[in-house]
Amino acid sequence: MTAEKHNISDQANQFLNRTHKLFIGGQWVEAQSGQTFDVVNPATGQVISKVARGGSGDVDLAVKAARKAFEGPWSKMTSSERGKLIWKLGDLLEQHLTEFAELETMDNGKPLAVAKFADVPLAVDMFRYMAGWTTKIEGSTIPVSVPTAPGGEFLSYTHREPVGVVGQIIPWNFPLLMAAWKLAPALAAGCTVILKPAEETPVTALRLAELVQEAGFPEGVVNIITGFGEETGAPLAAHMDVDKIAFTGSTEVGRLIVQAAGTSNLKKLTLELGGKSPNIIFPDANLKAAIAGAASGIFFNQGQCCCAGSRLYVHQDIFDEVIEGVSARAKKIRVGHGLDPQAQMGPLVSHDQLARVCNFLEEGAKEGAVAKAGGKRIGDSGYFVEPTVLVDTKANMKVVQEEIFGPVVVAMPFTDVDEIAATANDSIYGLAAGIWTQNISMAHKLARRIRAGSVWVNCYNVFDASLPFGGYKQSGWGREMGKEVLNNYLEVKAVTTQL
Ligand code: NAI
Ligand code: MG
Repeated sequence: MTAEKHNISDQANQFLNRTHKLFIGGQWVEAQSGQTFDVVNPATGQVISKVARGGSGDVDLAVKAARKAFEGPWSKMTSSERGKLIWKLGDLLEQHLTEFAELETMDNGKPLAVAKFADVPLAVDMFRYMAGWTTKIEGSTIPVSVPTAPGGEFLSYTHREPVGVVGQIIPWNFPLLMAAWKLAPALAAGCTVILKPAEETPVTALRLAELVQEAGFPEGVVNIITGFGEETGAPLAAHMDVDKIAFTGSTEVGRLIVQAAGTSNLKKLTLELGGKSPNIIFPDANLKAAIAGAASGIFFNQGQCCCAGSRLYVHQDIFDEVIEGVSARAKKIRVGHGLDPQAQMGPLVSHDQLARVCNFLEEGAKEGAVAKAGGKRIGDSGYFVEPTVLVDTKANMKVVQEEIFGPVVVAMPFTDVDEIAATANDSIYGLAAGIWTQNISMAHKLARRIRAGSVWVNCYNVFDASLPFGGYKQSGWGREMGKEVLNNYLEVKAVTTQL
């Protein structure tokens, strides 16, 4: 590959211009097949880097390295020592904030300002938050009665232990942040990890692996295997010596992971899958804030958010006004190359994703949806789509039922709170919801009725390392973040002694 110079720092350029290997057992090794694959900048369609194409043999080596580290140095470290390493990783990441943001923009397409303001700092914060948990994972002493041993005296306590070797399969919408969401709690709990980034966006996970080395983690605690889903993800999910898989991605692949666990060793699973989240605006809401929130709720990250507010429900009395406001905002969004300082929205991540989103737009039009803003691809180089607001949509349409994962919102009017509670829940998904109103009592009552893992009142897309995130229904199993996520990486042991 000819070294290409992009308008980014020398460090980021140099990193992209290398051909990257797999990170296994603390070493950088080529894939056993010797093959690599291209990484593409979605703003241009140009190849920006090359990475190893991992396969089942490589997965096997990584699992062995992770097992060795789990049984060896990692489990012998004190929780305080583990916490220090995780904290240090957060510090190192912060020191390289600009470089990581540049790499993320080149690889994923998102505007550089967004990567700098959201992706990297949130990842840093996740490592720090989880570093603090290492020393606070506690069991309890439990009074027991043991009716079968009258007069017996017992001491019983629980002990929480790491689940073991964990495979983590992540998507491309927030490549570094998803790596942090996955790695930080697993490491805090004392697990060792084989992380498989999405084939579309492997770059920042590989750079993070260099920081893992620099921080001084024992070899094999973190392994990074790049490759395609069927070739690398599937053997990881089916591996007999992997104790748990944590997955984020499509519902379709989530089902395959469940099957793989079911036909192998019944490994533990957490799944963070799709969404079709309702964003609900009542007539008494602060409309300026609600309109801005409805727009950013869908257009943030080019709409490639599992919790995107992709079903917009507006009370009929204010429907026209709100739709006009959201459409005006959609039309004003400057879409462009993520390195262009003017760009507020970048391209979709890949040609495949572009094709998927355009297909939804065509289907929607065929079914009678009308675009108040946007509605089509922009240009013919790069994977750009116009921020789109669809009206005249009906509950049974594909664009209303299915996750589009692009900058496309469907908007519909409603009349009362009982109706909207039912409509909001009329989805196979249950990841998030937004409620906009000044009536706080009504908002909290409605929040209770909505079957979703996150409910935002008078805000949207507010994330914090301390808040659990995850799905009801087909949006997934288990939670990410907060103290909640640690349960997914811990086993509980009850120890009883007769005194
Ligand atoms: P995907 O589910 O195929 O990819 C996510 C991850 O799973 C990637 O690392 C991929 O390599 C891996 N994978 C794929 N097939 C696998 C298999 N058989 N076994 C193990 N791992 C496998 O998602 P894709 O195709 O990139 O996007 C399709 C749709 O999925 C999107 O349009 C969107 O609706 C949804 N999606 C949801 C995400 C979320 O955050 N919940 C993230 C990405 C996609
Ligand atoms: Mg796929």
